[in-house]
Amino acid sequence: MTRILVLHGPNLGLLGTREPGIYGRLTLADIDRQLRELAATLRVEVNCFQSDVEGELVSRIGKSRGVYDGLILNPGAYTHTSIALRDALQAVETPCVEVHLSNTAARETFRHHSFTAAACIGQIMGFGAASYALALTGLVEYLSRKREP
Ligand code: DQA
Repeated sequence: MTRILVLHGPNLGLLGTREPGIYGRLTLADIDRQLRELAATLRVEVNCFQSDVEGELVSRIGKSRGVYDGLILNPGAYTHTSIALRDALQAVETPCVEVHLSNTAARETFRHHSFTAAACIGQIMGFGAASYALALTGLVEYLSRKREP
């Protein structure tokens, strides 16, 4: 069965009460539950992990090769700072979709640049919690196309 690892970066554990006007009122547990339900209908397996620590996210990506078929990553603020996360994605070559709840292009200029996006197969942002569902659907479609002879 296709296995997807969902990685949530710093401060995403605070969803629900964190700036709800920007990020919505759903908690991370709500988002993970929605993803697991969608995964069941798509017949794939998802594992979700959140960390505020850059190195833990780097390690999870590093260990994904050969274990997971694809990654969904919301790097949070590390999007705009982390060469280490980008290097990890490039090192493992596991197809990754970058996700943001908010439309970072419409926010402060320091959020406009993503270090990680260039190491991903695509990026989905601005749709709130639905960004994750769209990413999962797109990634599963990408992986099934890749398997075709
Ligand atoms: C975010 C956008 C980032 O700029 C911010 O630092 C976050 C959340 C998003 O999902 O919209 O923590 O990744």
